[in-house]
Amino acid sequence: MQDQALVKTAINIEEIKSASTLLKAGQLVAFPTETVYGLGCDAANVEALARLYRVKGRPGTHPVIVHLASVEQLKDWAQTVPAEALVLAKKFWPGPMTLILKKSDRVLPEVSGGQDTVGLRIPSHPVALALLKEFKSGIAAPSANRHGRISPTTAAHVKSELGDLVAQVLDGGNCTVGIESTIVDLSSDKPRILRPGMITLEAIEAALNESKQKEKNASSKKKRGGESKSSTASENTVIPRAPGSMSSHYAPTTGLKLFAHQNLPRAIATSESLSMKISVMAFSDPIASSCVITWKQLSEDPNECARQLYAYMRELDTSGADYIVVEEPPELPEWMGILDRLRRAANG
Ligand code: TXA
Ligand code: MG
Repeated sequence: MQDQALVKTAINIEEIKSASTLLKAGQLVAFPTETVYGLGCDAANVEALARLYRVKGRPGTHPVIVHLASVEQLKDWAQTVPAEALVLAKKFWPGPMTLILKKSDRVLPEVSGGQDTVGLRIPSHPVALALLKEFKSGIAAPSANRHGRISPTTAAHVKSELGDLVAQVLDGGNCTVGIESTIVDLSSDKPRILRPGMITLEAIEAALNESKQKEKNASSKKKRGGESKSSTASENTVIPRAPGSMSSHYAPTTGLKLFAHQNLPRAIATSESLSMKISVMAFSDPIASSCVITWKQLSEDPNECARQLYAYMRELDTSGADYIVVEEPPELPEWMGILDRLRRAANG
């Protein structure tokens, strides 16, 4: 279990007010969310957005997520709010899910990357929610790392990566989810997962199907005086299993290689025979070898493993290893977010 003392939930209202004032003045403020730290700016301020892109080193065509305090604000940023969005919002917000909806006219092209959609999310971290309530409008926030690098999960990570480039860093302790939100695209005819996360595709699908079923039961009760009809698979929402693009991202500067459990001993033996220095992140117990500098044991609980992932990656990135060896997690629903980040890191 994570040390709960590390999760700071106390709100310092003076800090929140000062952060909100800085945002109103077009400055950048880093703040904790339950997934990773965000680098925030006023989503309606073109100059602030330009500063955000510059500091992150992010291509201008890359859209950013707008963070909101309440579901009522959706209508300001989305052209239409489909029923499915309200179902998912009710079930998973505030929380680690981003919805992609058709954008409203007020969404700047700098936010949408020139597309006709916008990413929206209500985070659950109390500091993030307090800031959003104080700010009273949308805060655009990508993860508070340089483009392509590992997302920060502590305030210290943000400071080491962005230093003086940010006007204020709100410290909310360690992020309790640890990897970025699940992105669900509801902007076309069928829901799609663009980025897997700790809210699984199966959980999203189940929430959508449960609501469809309730609707059907209600309407057939009306029509046939109480007789209800069970749904068939073809009437259910089925989200395609292949997630979005697999670009290199979330990557340490040291090369990272993924190995299945059974191939780990051979990978270590090969490194030893080549006199390579390696650092390892694995579910297995440490294997003694002269080539291993550091061995970080990953939790077999996916929630705990997600919290460990980026902090361990950062630590191993500075361990002096020639490359980082990682034992691949199982291809099971609750591991898909972690597997996705590791595969992207290995692509780096
Ligand atoms: O958990 C998270 O989502 C964190 C915290 C800070 O909220 N944010 C985050 O932002 O991960 P960022 O910018 O690092 O990643 C957002 C991803 C990008 O891959 C971006 O392409 C995608 O969301 N995205 C944003 N708006 C989009 C849109 N309109 N259509 C498609 N993808 C979009
Ligand atoms: Mg990011």
